[in-house]
Amino acid sequence: MDKMRIQGGKKLSGTVQVSGAKNAALPILIASIVAEGKCEFERVPDLQDVRTTLKLLSQLGVKVDDGLSSKNSVILDASRVDNFEAPYDLVRTMRASIVVLGPLLARLGKAKVSLPGGCAIGARPIDLHLAGLKRLGATIELEGGYVIASAKKLKGGKVPFDFPSVGATENVLMAAVLADGESVLENCAREPEIVDLARALRAMGAVIEGEGTETIRVQGKSSLHGCKFGIMGDRIEAGTYLAAGFGTQGDVTVEGIAPEHLESVLVKFEEAGAQIIRKKDSVQIIARDRAKGVDITTQPFPGFPTDMQAQFMSVMTVANGASTMSETIFENRFMHVPELMRLGADITIRGNTAVIRGKEKLLGAPLMATDLRASASLILGGLFAQGETVVNRIYHLDRGYERMEKKLQKLGASIERMK
Ligand code: UD1
Repeated sequence: MDKMRIQGGKKLSGTVQVSGAKNAALPILIASIVAEGKCEFERVPDLQDVRTTLKLLSQLGVKVDDGLSSKNSVILDASRVDNFEAPYDLVRTMRASIVVLGPLLARLGKAKVSLPGGCAIGARPIDLHLAGLKRLGATIELEGGYVIASAKKLKGGKVPFDFPSVGATENVLMAAVLADGESVLENCAREPEIVDLARALRAMGAVIEGEGTETIRVQGKSSLHGCKFGIMGDRIEAGTYLAAGFGTQGDVTVEGIAPEHLESVLVKFEEAGAQIIRKKDSVQIIARDRAKGVDITTQPFPGFPTDMQAQFMSVMTVANGASTMSETIFENRFMHVPELMRLGADITIRGNTAVIRGKEKLLGAPLMATDLRASASLILGGLFAQGETVVNRIYHLDRGYERMEKKLQKLGASIERMK
């Protein structure tokens, strides 16, 4: 299993090109299911989760023309999609597969998708997805570990979400585009990735308005067509490299990202003492000193993203002063904490809040990655610590970061992948 070896303590400086956003790419590739025609996607990140998605689509009968490793593009054609079953073996490796439920149901009148089960960062139920699809007229059964959804023809309706779940909003949106009549989705997730998905669906001919707000209105169409669409930049990847610049007291620019997608994080970087320069599609962080401790609570967008909690915490471990980080989105998302403590970080967990007392120095150590964003925080910890850190089980990292070690090397980091 691959590992990453880091010699920490180096100031990082330079520019990183941000890849296409994983969390936009996965639902957008899956959205091709509702289109009868060729969908050409650009700026698709070459990630393990994207490969899993392509495998799943191919099993469902979508024709996949994969130019991922050569030019970050993928052509999908769901004209002949015919299989409505997403099997356990694939769904188990990637929870996001659950969003095939809505589009398959809308396109084929039936969908059978393995229940994703729990994952390292919590139980992550799908009750909101199912309640939303029922409001559009779907019948839902649970059988042998599978969700079986059926509806001869979905009917537009009012879908009020109890919580602005990203996945549930995506699932129901992808179903509503082919439903009969108007659907009004309320208390929707407002994440930029939802906006990107709505844009992609619109490029396929869908009629959608209000994405990025609490209420999304959809006028169902009887069929949708192919499209050409470029995926948005990855705000979490961008935030991770900015955090790397901050914790090493360096000067890092991320390019290919809309600064407003990252505003809640940028404000906290500023509060912690960094200088932030926002341009149209880039952000620069200049850190002349150690960060100051700040307090953070994760929230749905536009609040501070849970997907940046672990990486920001790494910066706080070397800050001047104490900080608190409260996690309100997932119930078990502090798995990076005991690993960061192996580097000498001073962190106490009280319920859903971590109290971090910044240290002047961390010391390198062997570490074990547990999930995607936790892995990124350990890489950061290794960059901030003196001496050698080896991060084990970095396959988690490869699920969501495209060639991370290459990008960090370009910034002057001493990091290498070991087989
Ligand atoms: C997506 C992102 C993930 C991010 C998260 C929150 C993708 C592929 N993943 O995950 O990186 O951390 O948004 O920004 O885009 N919940 C329920 N019932 C449901 C659905 C969700 O209780 O039916 C709960 C979850 O357990 C969790 C919270 O709602 O506690 C947020 O989940 P959700 O917004 O759905 O996140 P995901 O779509 O799974």
